[in-house]
Amino acid sequence: MDDTEIVIAPVNLAARVDEALAVQAVAFGLDAAEVAVRRHIVLRHLLSPGARAYGATTPDGRLAGFVYGMPNDRSHWWSTVVEPYLRAEGNAEWLDGSFVITELHVHPDFQGRGVGRELITTITDGSELPRSILSAIDTESPARGLYRSLGYTDLARRVHFPSAPRPYAVMGAPLPLRRRN
Ligand SMILES: CC(C)(COP(=O)(O)OP(=O)(O)OC[C@H]1O[C@@H](n2cnc3c(N)ncnc32)[C@H](O)[C@@H]1OP(=O)(O)O)[C@@H](O)C(=O)NCCC(=O)NCCS
Repeated sequence: MDDTEIVIAPVNLAARVDEALAVQAVAFGLDAAEVAVRRHIVLRHLLSPGARAYGATTPDGRLAGFVYGMPNDRSHWWSTVVEPYLRAEGNAEWLDGSFVITELHVHPDFQGRGVGRELITTITDGSELPRSILSAIDTESPARGLYRSLGYTDLARRVHFPSAPRPYAVMGAPLPLRRRN
């Protein structure tokens, strides 16, 4: 990665949930009401079996970005929403033996320096599962470009989550993630 001053390491995200959501709010766009809802969800997610989080920290201790995820559990809300879409495409088996990237966000001040790439490769390298899945807004975004470059392909598109106005794509990749040549 370009910026050697930013350190990627495991982070106690529950203790730093407000800082993380402040990063997500500006990176992804969340209003105060959405942050309040997300706060409960993130704290619950972090109690899930196998949940892990990594942070990107500046020399002065600021959180520049974070990622967290967990082994997929078919009983989790996210999995139940995406399952029929994956099944329709013959891809439902991706819900088993998969590490889910639940959130990945880098503060705009620190984007484009390889931080996002290092966060997602570091957390997935720590998983013994054979593959990874995630959902991203179904548009040509930097996130979609990053995921494709790591080997993620589309497993389902135009996926609608209740309460989310925009459709998502579900993507999956074999682990370990592909490295740049
Ligand atoms: C997606 C995100 C996490 C990437 O983090 P980042 O630190 O900026 O990404 P990196 O610097 O590691 O870039 C990795 C790759 O992303 C893609 N990428 C990054 N910025 C891009 C841009 N402006 N346009 C197109 N692709 C871009 C490229 O494929 C890049 O690979 P390269 O370095 O070989 O060019 C960050 O843009 C972000 O937080 N976005 C807003 C929140 C979000 O969408 N999160 C994901 C939710 S699913």
